[in-house]
Amino acid sequence: MAEIGPASRPVLVLDFGAQYVQLIARRVRERHAFARIVRHDITADRVRELNPLALILSGGPRSVYEPGAPRCDPEIFSLGVPILGICYGLQLAADALGARVQANPARGEYGRTDFRVREDDPIFHDVPRETIVWMSHGDQIHDAGSDFIPIAETPHCPIAAVRHRSRPIYGLQFHPEVSHTPYGSLILGNFLDRICGNPRDWTMGAFIERSVAEVRDRVGPDDRVVCGLSGGVDSAVCAALLAKALGPRVVCVFVDTGLLRQNERAAVVDAFGRHSDAELRVVDAEETFLKALAGVTDPQEKRRRIGHAFIDVFREAARTIDGARFLAQGTLYPDVIESGGEPDGPTATIKIHHNVGGLPAELGFELVEPLRDLFKDEVRRLGLELGLPDSLIWRHPFPGPGLAVRCLGEVTADRLEILRQADAIFLEELQNAGLNRQVAQAFAVLLPVQAVGVQGDARTYESVIAIRAVETEDFMTADWSRLPHELLARVSTRITNAVKGVNRVVYDITSKPPGTIEWE
Ligand code: XMP
Repeated sequence: MAEIGPASRPVLVLDFGAQYVQLIARRVRERHAFARIVRHDITADRVRELNPLALILSGGPRSVYEPGAPRCDPEIFSLGVPILGICYGLQLAADALGARVQANPARGEYGRTDFRVREDDPIFHDVPRETIVWMSHGDQIHDAGSDFIPIAETPHCPIAAVRHRSRPIYGLQFHPEVSHTPYGSLILGNFLDRICGNPRDWTMGAFIERSVAEVRDRVGPDDRVVCGLSGGVDSAVCAALLAKALGPRVVCVFVDTGLLRQNERAAVVDAFGRHSDAELRVVDAEETFLKALAGVTDPQEKRRRIGHAFIDVFREAARTIDGARFLAQGTLYPDVIESGGEPDGPTATIKIHHNVGGLPAELGFELVEPLRDLFKDEVRRLGLELGLPDSLIWRHPFPGPGLAVRCLGEVTADRLEILRQADAIFLEELQNAGLNRQVAQAFAVLLPVQAVGVQGDARTYESVIAIRAVETEDFMTADWSRLPHELLARVSTRITNAVKGVNRVVYDITSKPPGTIEWE
């Protein structure tokens, strides 16, 4: 067996239904501690087994005095493991240990609030005595009881933070994880470093070392790993990590569906050649996909057919790879959590997975998912650490069904070509304007309508291109980008001049909701 270094001791974030639970975990990881999200009723015995550095009790929508409100195993408070309660988590710890929680007489505090530190404490090291925090609570501690010392206050919340007299237990009524609490990250860091003795061993360097050892341990010398490349950041980082561990025993498969953006295939092949010594097989499948899509206009039917065609093409390609026993997937931690796939994690929450291009279990491979512990921002940092270029790391997401869902109406080679050219012009102008990072996703859409125009002295009747640019953190909600008018004007002029068959360009000013990011 290969030597696998010790894993970081986790910080367990108990999920009481907080909107921000993943954000808490991300903030902890930014302080180089390995946060894992676990179910709120994890038993004290299991906690002992996992030997965590700390427990964080998340916020949640309920009141601790309500019947049926989620509670934790009360024994966790006696384990001697440092605990930080946030909002509901604070109220729960307080309620369990003799303090009294009740509704705020002023009907709660929501948003930015003035905050004053009352007691010097390591958790407030380097935090100004007066600052701002972000609050979102209807309940609060009314009476701290004999075991808790109030250490901070806000105008409407006299007990806005507490420390236990004899145990390493802290509670914060405000949300340190959100960016609206300017010293929130420092407060979390102080808790980890000064209260828990954080060894700060969650780093991408350590992660690479451990993952490489684990993959080498699992994949035998005669086995090969098939890795589907999509052109996106997750699959590229996944492939690069595996290639570091296994070199040419990784075989990457890139399916050219004919639904890719301009120069996308060349860019993938080029970046791959430069940064990997794994093998790359490009499958030319444009004809298969166009045939499958002929005459189809319904968006879900397009997705279904593309999904099936993709599996067929991929299966065929994988069949020709000798010794292929494993299939690599770039599954990320949020997918694992949200699908209920973590042994100690919360049960599945409802999330709409588009998941086109996903591969079914029937392909008969064992799965390798080296990114399943990582958040997206960590995948990006990992990619940079592995030497992948910036242009790849900061790529906008591109949907699995590709241009098919941006070519409204029937998908034909001619219509795809119009869309591809318009899209390339828009993306190039955005790049030139230096707005690529600010915008989360940008693209052109070919509408299924014709518009009247005039070019030279002639009347035209041609296609309409819509351009869309959105700003978002999580793609669940989004706002349309306020792009400069000059930029929009340049894009419109260039597209109508250069793309044959287009005489009109419109800019989509719809946020999500009520719109979605894609048009189909
Ligand atoms: P919507 O349009 O639902 O998009 O607001 C949210 C994010 O998901 C992407 N998207 C897809 N990704 N297969 C994918 O892999 C799909 O069928 C699909 N549809 C939308 C979209 O590009 C955006 O990033």
